Amino acid sequence: MSSVQPMPADSIASQRDAFIEQFLQFGSGTFNMFSIYIGDRLGLYRALAESGPATSAELASRTGTHERYIREWLEHQTVAGILEVEDENQAAESRRFRLPAGHAEPLIDSNSLNYIVPIAQMIAGAVRPMPSLLEAYRNGGGVPFDEYGTDLREGQAAINYPAFMYQLPAEWLPALPDVHARLQSDPTARVADIGCGYGWSSIGMAKGYPTIHVDGFDLDAPSIEQAQENAKRNGVADRVDFQVRDAGDPSLVGQYDLVTAFECVHDMTNPVGALRTMRGLVKDGGVVLIVDERVGDVFTAKGNDVEWMMYGWSILHCLPVGMDDHNAVGTGTVMRADTLRQYAKDAGFSNVEILPIEHFFFRFYRLTA
Ligand SMILES: C[S@@+](CC[C@H](N)C(=O)[O-])C[C@H]1O[C@@H](n2cnc3c(N)ncnc32)[C@H](O)[C@@H]1O
Repeated sequence: MSSVQPMPADSIASQRDAFIEQFLQFGSGTFNMFSIYIGDRLGLYRALAESGPATSAELASRTGTHERYIREWLEHQTVAGILEVEDENQAAESRRFRLPAGHAEPLIDSNSLNYIVPIAQMIAGAVRPMPSLLEAYRNGGGVPFDEYGTDLREGQAAINYPAFMYQLPAEWLPALPDVHARLQSDPTARVADIGCGYGWSSIGMAKGYPTIHVDGFDLDAPSIEQAQENAKRNGVADRVDFQVRDAGDPSLVGQYDLVTAFECVHDMTNPVGALRTMRGLVKDGGVVLIVDERVGDVFTAKGNDVEWMMYGWSILHCLPVGMDDHNAVGTGTVMRADTLRQYAKDAGFSNVEILPIEHFFFRFYRLTA
């Protein structure tokens, strides 16, 4: 028999009321996210930042949008605390709205490490296959990555772009002195970048180390097509190749000095197979570097802000894509260090070291063959 005492009725009522209040905040927060998606995709924030405060008609004309929708959106943004109104007492059509100075970098500066607006695009992508998601929850199947569409791919690429282009070559790789030295020495160092998405990690490494050659691999054909385009535009197409390949494909062979996998092992249906391939790809003395989510070592009810968000990605995207195969292990975004250690051991690695690199979202693992 349970020893838990029943709650008094007034405590239940205050718990109920607190939950209703919290629930309504969740609702408004969700609307905020989709309103940010609209502002980002239609260039509304950028137009306010670049051409200054605007009435609804001015902003509509600057962005090729419809005044009535823009007026509603501007008022919503103001009530939500995302934009400011110059004089709320003016007639609706005459009110001018502005982007607060401190909100510009997170919303429009795509080179900044503080650029977080792609999260809204990723969330819009993550809910796109909702009917398939519900079906997967019922029958235990998965949801193909492709069903999440361009928003998920683009948002993912954009959120990691600044870190991959700037921190990866300037801070993360130099934190591994042997790798840093090898990438700068002769003969040409070769890098394999597994699950490379739009290729920014491969391109960032190639730009930071001007003699290396990088091969990027990803299962998703539209991502590889975009990665090839990105390499061309960034002038590294002669040293960066991209191929559609399954990381678990045992025929994927090579002799690489560095093998990397950024934010993708937890998405794989067969992470042990992929890690085994990675072990086979790395030369004697080479390094395998896995960068994945900075989650806690064990589940705790309280969690933390990072884990709260990671569970959100997991329930909508990472777990369903990681379940999309009849033999899938179903890791989910919250891949704890012990889970990766076990996968690495099963793949034949002898050691997993967590590197002392500080990052809000990422944890860095160096695997020894
Ligand atoms: C969350 S995205 C990360 C993309 C990129 N590395 C980044 O950090 O922006 C995960 C990527 O892993 C790829 N992926 C999943 N399973 C894969 C597999 N078995 N082989 C190769 N790529 C895979 C997906 O197609 C997707 O592009």
